[in-house]
Amino acid sequence: MLFDPLKIRDVTLKNRIAVSPMCQYSSEDGLASDWHLVHLGSRAVGGAALVLTEAASVEERGRISPQDLGLWEDDQIDMLQRITSFIRAQGSVAGVQLAHAGRKASTSRPWDGNEPVETDQGGWRPVLAPSAIPFDEGYPTPEAMSVDHIRAVTKAFVQAARRAQEAGFQVIEIHAAHGYLMHQFLSPLSNERTDDYGGAFENRIRLLREVASAVRKVWPDQLPLFVRLSATDWVADGGWDLEQSVKLSRLLKEDGVDLIDCSSGGTVPKAKVPVGPGYQTPFAERIRRDTGILTAAVGMITSPEQAETILRTGQADVVVLAREFLRDPYWPHHAAAKLGAKPSPPVQYSRAF
Ligand SMILES: Cc1cc2nc3c(=O)[nH]c(=O)nc-3n(C[C@H](O)[C@H](O)[C@H](O)COP(=O)(O)O)c2cc1C
Repeated sequence: MLFDPLKIRDVTLKNRIAVSPMCQYSSEDGLASDWHLVHLGSRAVGGAALVLTEAASVEERGRISPQDLGLWEDDQIDMLQRITSFIRAQGSVAGVQLAHAGRKASTSRPWDGNEPVETDQGGWRPVLAPSAIPFDEGYPTPEAMSVDHIRAVTKAFVQAARRAQEAGFQVIEIHAAHGYLMHQFLSPLSNERTDDYGGAFENRIRLLREVASAVRKVWPDQLPLFVRLSATDWVADGGWDLEQSVKLSRLLKEDGVDLIDCSSGGTVPKAKVPVGPGYQTPFAERIRRDTGILTAAVGMITSPEQAETILRTGQADVVVLAREFLRDPYWPHHAAAKLGAKPSPPVQYSRAF
């Protein structure tokens, strides 16, 4: 099962294993570098069917950190093109995660403290959000977005999608999870707007649906479009939750989204998250069962048997691994050997597996 192919539109994944988006905080001016080529390329050599880039910002001020990857300028296409062609040459599919950090923009990378960066330290202001509510103490108060800002962000996603196609990506994932801009609109905890983009469920989901539809229009019909959702804010009262995620997924399916990548959390700093092996998998299962859309499960999936069970029991269509892929870029080849499937390393490595 883990090694069964999956066809989505005209793209065939050779197995059900994907590399989760992981910020590398290693870009200058949003440019990919040799680091990205080796990091992403190694995981393609390692046998992942789908290699997703880290969050690539659609706007300069939408970066999480000053070192984020970006797709807000045509100059950023070239190096990404080199990376996608390498990934493709390994029989893998290259995907890009398009993102905007909203009120969580302008923070330092984890090894520099993971805190807001001031303008004299390479940060920027204002940061944008649906409402003027800071993420946490010490974070900047964001500027509540005007409708013009909202239109500009939608346009930026569309422009980035066009660049993604030029760069040779075959999958786009819209990042609508982890408390970043799209999720900030979804959650009543960060969205207190009283216009068409806030309040009722239909209004809070409006921006994400507009972005997904606009991207779908320019993204070729034969190529898949994914959305990563935080299925819940993990807040008992008044937050975004699984019921809303199910309703939204159904509508996103109508908008031409092919797969929901089911993560959770990130809107508020103090949420209690019951982290453990496969802790987010039930979200993928419920959304898949109730809406019929393809889902990906992510979060503390580490063993081949666990991944196989998730797929066999119909909880998800794809398993997405992050940290385990940092520990072992060759996880798919090792998993194949363990599950009695045939590892398919590149010929150069065939004597090792
Ligand atoms: C170093 C690192 C960077 C990450 N960057 C992103 C990102 O850019 N976009 C995203 O959606 N999730 C990001 N995540 C979250 C992962 O994609 C994944 O959802 C999470 O780590 C849980 O999966 P795991 O238990 O397999 O690591 C990141 C995680 C790590 C460890």
